Amino acid sequence: MEGKLRVLIVNGSPKGEYSLTLQHSLYMLGQEPAVEWAVLQAGEALSPIDYDEAWLAEAIDEIERADAIVWSTPVYTMLVPWQLIRLFRLVEEAGRSDAFRGKYATSMMTCFHYYDHLAEAWLRATCEDLGMAYMEGRTADNMDMLRKDHRASMRFFMREFIEACRNRAPLERKYAPLSGRPSPRFEPVAAGADAGANAGRAAPAVPAAAPGAAPRTVLLTDEYRKDGNLSRMIDAFVGAYPYPVEVVDINDFPYEAGCHGCLRCELVGECDRKDGFQEFYLNLVNTCDALVFGMNLEGRYLRPVWKLFLDRTFSNGHRTSMMGKHTAYLVAGPLRSLPNVRQFLEGKDNVGRENCMAIIGDEYDDSALLGRLLREGAGRLARAVGARYQKSVNFLGWGGIKIFRDLIYGMRGVVRDDHRFYKTHGLYDFPQKDIPKQLFNVAMGVAFALKPVRLQAFERMPPLYIQLHKRIVDSGKP
Ligand SMILES: Cc1cc2nc3c(=O)[nH]c(=O)nc-3n(C[C@H](O)[C@H](O)[C@H](O)COP(=O)(O)O)c2cc1C
Repeated sequence: MEGKLRVLIVNGSPKGEYSLTLQHSLYMLGQEPAVEWAVLQAGEALSPIDYDEAWLAEAIDEIERADAIVWSTPVYTMLVPWQLIRLFRLVEEAGRSDAFRGKYATSMMTCFHYYDHLAEAWLRATCEDLGMAYMEGRTADNMDMLRKDHRASMRFFMREFIEACRNRAPLERKYAPLSGRPSPRFEPVAAGADAGANAGRAAPAVPAAAPGAAPRTVLLTDEYRKDGNLSRMIDAFVGAYPYPVEVVDINDFPYEAGCHGCLRCELVGECDRKDGFQEFYLNLVNTCDALVFGMNLEGRYLRPVWKLFLDRTFSNGHRTSMMGKHTAYLVAGPLRSLPNVRQFLEGKDNVGRENCMAIIGDEYDDSALLGRLLREGAGRLARAVGARYQKSVNFLGWGGIKIFRDLIYGMRGVVRDDHRFYKTHGLYDFPQKDIPKQLFNVAMGVAFALKPVRLQAFERMPPLYIQLHKRIVDSGKP
């Protein structure tokens, strides 16, 4: 390659020049004298709903002129910010997606490592779909760059990237292309008309929720009463659900702009945007008992309006407002080819200790079967609400819960509302605060210094390990 390599840093952070991530990208490229670089402030420019179209046209030209792209972005709500998704979408709508083709790309992200892997996976897959050669990026938390050893690795990383661009080194394609095949059309049939496994079987009883009142169930959707599978799935689900359902089309909310990461919500408890979203969302989650989501997939994620919506829910800080409640997801599109979207939904619910009772996709040739799945899902959701059933939490949840616990505790002087919430809900479950366990470990630490004790423990371990549980089983009591 002749002359200087032209690298475009596309800054996805809505904080613009105040982006922490940007400092990382500037540092790395500042160490590369043979590179010409420029910054595209995409996150900032695309925050308002009414963005500047002249900016977009110029931005696409800049992308086209660049030899390589560094996506410099924070992680927002387990992905990149809505603004960056919007950039890809607007370039596509302008018919200019070819501007990306053949270019090398990598990413620099800062975050608290909460689902940052999903953010990079989405970015990489999206780049690969656009014909870009993507090299694995870096993620850092807010203190990493202050360390000398970390900076040495950052320089190594950027050097490798620049060399890969210059030599047009082959890079592995990690994600298979999507087929682009639409899901079969869902043609609902009336309940009972489908001679499936449940036909003729009595529907399981729905236990009463709170005495007197039906549980408040809200369905949030990006498509309602249109000619799409999602609309028909919603009708089938709502028709089978034994309680009233309020349907809210999230496209109808008058969003002023995307979240711009100002943290006013964390510091003074109010969202900086004045469109009423914070009140709308808090009122919704505080008063509903069950939340159903109707979601269309688009590209490798949900329709972008979901990201706009979800990023704005950050105004509630890290307070898991749906804790203990119940959810279900109806998803139209290639969900089976997008396991990361499923992981996002499951992870979000697991961390929030919401109880996801169903994730139902639409990739069924057999409409009768999908109809039965929807009816069964509706029944299961209603029964779980009534029984106040609590699901178990897996790695997706526990991993996130521990990250948040440490984050909030470490920042407790600043994020005071979050800290109060964590304290009152007993979420500070640090092992060092478990006094009986501490005493046990002190005693064991002394005894286990002796090999005969360890040998004896080894021999007695199997029955001892299950002793308390076995007692419950043997008692036969509930
Ligand atoms: C709306 C919002 C959502 C966020 N979501 C996540 C997240 O899902 N995972 C994570 O690790 N950090 C998350 N963060 C933290 C940011 O990624 C982190 O503060 C980042 O360093 C900000 O970078 P910037 O200054 O370049 O914008 C979120 C921050 C905001 C404001």
